[in-house]
Amino acid sequence: MKTIDRIQGYADELVAIRRDIHAHPEIGFEEKRTSEIVARLLASWGIEVHAGLGKTGVIGILKGRGTGRTIGLRADMDALPMDEQTNLPFASKNPGKFHGCGHDGHTTILLGAARYLAETRNFNGTVIFIFQPAEEGLGGARAMLKDRLFERFPCDEIYGLHNQPDGHPGRVGIRSGPVLAGADFFDIRIVGQGSHGAMPHQSRDPVLMAFTLGQALQSIVSRNVDPLKAAVLSITQVHAGAAYNVVPAEAHLAGTIRTFDDGVRAQVGQRMREIAAGMALGFGAEIAVDIRDIFTVLENAEEQADVVRAVAGDLIGADNVVLGPQMMGSEDFADMLRAVPGAYFMLGAKAGPGLHNPGFLFDEAILPVGASLFARIAENRAA
Ligand code: NI
Repeated sequence: MKTIDRIQGYADELVAIRRDIHAHPEIGFEEKRTSEIVARLLASWGIEVHAGLGKTGVIGILKGRGTGRTIGLRADMDALPMDEQTNLPFASKNPGKFHGCGHDGHTTILLGAARYLAETRNFNGTVIFIFQPAEEGLGGARAMLKDRLFERFPCDEIYGLHNQPDGHPGRVGIRSGPVLAGADFFDIRIVGQGSHGAMPHQSRDPVLMAFTLGQALQSIVSRNVDPLKAAVLSITQVHAGAAYNVVPAEAHLAGTIRTFDDGVRAQVGQRMREIAAGMALGFGAEIAVDIRDIFTVLENAEEQADVVRAVAGDLIGADNVVLGPQMMGSEDFADMLRAVPGAYFMLGAKAGPGLHNPGFLFDEAILPVGASLFARIAENRAA
C-alpha cells in the first residue's frame, strides 16, 4: 500500500490515537471526549478550531501559502449502540457502545491528513476539516448544516471516505452519480377493535390487517415502481397483542424504504399511504402512516469523482482504483453533498466481519493510506 512517506513516518501515532478512540466509543451527539481529542490535536498542529457545530462536531481551518480554493475533508466520529465482541486489548470500555463501523478509523485518518497538511502547507488555498457527529441515523450532517456549516465555512468542494472490509486493503472504489440510497423509516399504526379471541366477529382485527397490509405493501416495488429503477421496502418490525385469547385493538408495523431516486422515493411513500387508506376503509379501522426522511440519496459529482480517481491513481496506482459499488446502505454525508459538490469513496480493507457486526475489526494498515489520499486531494485541489 503506497502512502506519503511523511505520514507513514507517524503511522504508529495514528494507531495509538485510533485505539484510544476505539476504547472510549461515544454514540451520536455524545462524542464529547472524542471531539475534545480532535480539537486538542488540531490546535496542537496550529490549526484554527471551531467546536460545537451540530452539538459535538468540530471544524478545523488550515490556510495554505497563498490564496486559492477551499476544500472540505470530512470524517464521522460516532460509535454504534451495540456491544463489542472482538477480545481486543483496546476493546470498548463503554458497555453497549462500539466502533463497529470504523468511524474511529475515519476520524484518525482525517487527523493524520490534518497533521501532514499543517506541517507541510504545500497548497495555496484553504482546507476545512469537518469532524461530524452522529452519522448512524441520527442526523449529524443535518445538524451541522442547520448550524450553517457551509455559510460559516464555505467550501468549493468536499470529500469523504468509508472503510470497506472487502479483502482489498488500500484499494479505492469510486463512482460518479448515485452511490448510496436515500432512506426513510416508517411506522404504521393500525387501530381496530379488540375482542375475546373466541369471538372475533366482535373485533375489527388489527392483526389480520397487519398481515394483509404487509403483503399489499410488497406489491409497491413489484407492481408500481419502474422495474429498471431500484427500490427496497422492508418491514422489519411487527408488534401486536399479548395474550392467546385476546384479539388486540392495535398493531404496529415499522421498517425502511431505500431508493436511488427522489421520484421513486415519493412514489413509494404515496402508494403506502394510498394502500393503507384503502385498507382502513375496507376493514373499518384507522391506519396512520408516518414516513420519515432519514438519509438523502448520496450522489457524487462527476468532476470530484474524477479527482478522486486521478489522485488515487497517482498515489496507489491505477490498478488499485476500481469502480465503486452502488449499495442500498445509506450515509449522511449525502446531505453535505447536496450543499457542496464533492465525492465519497470506499477505501478497501482486509477481509473480516462486516460493518456493524459485533466482531468488526478496523484495518489499521489503511490509516496512512486514507490520510495520504485526503492529503493529496487537498494539495491538488486547494490550489
Ligand atoms: Ni459508517
